[in-house]
Amino acid sequence: MKTYLITGGAGFIGSNFIHYMFNKYKEEIFIINIDNLTYAGNLNNLKNIENLNNYKFIKGDICDAENLSKIFKTYDIEYVVNFAAESHVDRSIEDPSIFVKTNILGTQVLIEIAKKYWKMKNGFKEGKKYIQISTDEVYGSLGEDGYFTEKTLIDPHSPYSSSKASADLIVKAYYDTYRMPINITRCSNNYGPYQFPEKLIPLIINNCIKNRDIPIYGDGKNVRDWLYVEDHCAAIDLVINEGAVGEIYNIGGNNEKQNIEIVKYIIYALKHKGLDVEEALIRYVEDRKGHDRRYAIDSTKIREELRFNPSVNFNDGMLRTIEWYLNNKDWLGKIVNGDYMNYYKKFYGR
Ligand code: NAD
Ligand code: DAU
Repeated sequence: MKTYLITGGAGFIGSNFIHYMFNKYKEEIFIINIDNLTYAGNLNNLKNIENLNNYKFIKGDICDAENLSKIFKTYDIEYVVNFAAESHVDRSIEDPSIFVKTNILGTQVLIEIAKKYWKMKNGFKEGKKYIQISTDEVYGSLGEDGYFTEKTLIDPHSPYSSSKASADLIVKAYYDTYRMPINITRCSNNYGPYQFPEKLIPLIINNCIKNRDIPIYGDGKNVRDWLYVEDHCAAIDLVINEGAVGEIYNIGGNNEKQNIEIVKYIIYALKHKGLDVEEALIRYVEDRKGHDRRYAIDSTKIREELRFNPSVNFNDGMLRTIEWYLNNKDWLGKIVNGDYMNYYKKFYGR
């Protein structure tokens, strides 16, 4: 039985990954989920697996070396998959310091503890691997043409993406210096169930449900490459099992959309489901500072080396996502309470 230490497993992608892994491997795996439950961590994402014998939740911070040491002493961990992060660009523009702490320092503390417990005199114990979940945002912004490959120079612009790029460099240094078994994955924008409604897609769905204005930054023509979260999880599982040690893998959906297209799609789909919602709710608001224009991933490497292809097309993924939010209004209702409304007022004015 393989033991996985998942960090940030109560967040959007981490919780989807835990579901994906239990669906696929059932009793064959043991998962320890360490998460310090920031505003983005939500144990309701994991309700239906929380009592499994092969699952353990530990409330803890990846910056806390002592606590991590205890975990490594108690369990023989094969894989560390580091999802834990501050992940929202707008929050990083407002207050970068926690991004530096969690995303950079936390990554270094975590990988150092893994190294301490995995390192032998000559090299590392067999079968161990550290996976850093990174982002395409480390590459910066594209013009109308071109794609990010793994060889594209990193050129991050926001405090968030700079902190993720810094973490990548630390992880790479552990490979270059100690030959520690690592992989780094750099994925494009994810969407799907359990995403916190500060990010574009769930924020719009929630605003449509509440008949609230829909804020679009700038001219609405910024482009993102969208991937259904389950496909991201499948790609990470492939990288863990088959990724060549020390390598970086880009993961993308080959699914570029302008923000305005996404917004109009959601309004159209919700109208189709009988919701009374109109494009008149759209409000063009002040642009995000340093707003990256376009992200687009070249996934050739993971497709050719690991045979990864996304399985969920944009239409199906969006309809699944919209239906999930409509069917889980309780989940949403518990989030969009006082704290969320304070955030909303602070960032959007009303
Ligand atoms: P999220 O904000 O939904 O979840 C982050 C989780 O990490 C939360 O549960 C939070 O409580 C936890 N966390 C934060 N600080 C922690 C700390 N110090 N110690 C322990 N836990 C901590 O983020 P997400 O969207 O699920 O993203 C997960 C990872 O994937 C991040 O590293 C992000 O950079 C990366 N990523 C996200 C996307 C995307 O589209 N969402 C795309 C590519 C890469
Ligand atoms: O590319 C991967 C990244 O995708 C991840 O690393 C990040 O963790 C994740 O948050 C996401 O970053 P983005 O900045 O691309 O996602 P966000 O949902 O915040 O914004 C998507 C686009 O929509 C972006 O161009 C900004 C725009 N936007 C966003 C919000 C929240 C709006 O126009 N209005 C909004 O209210």
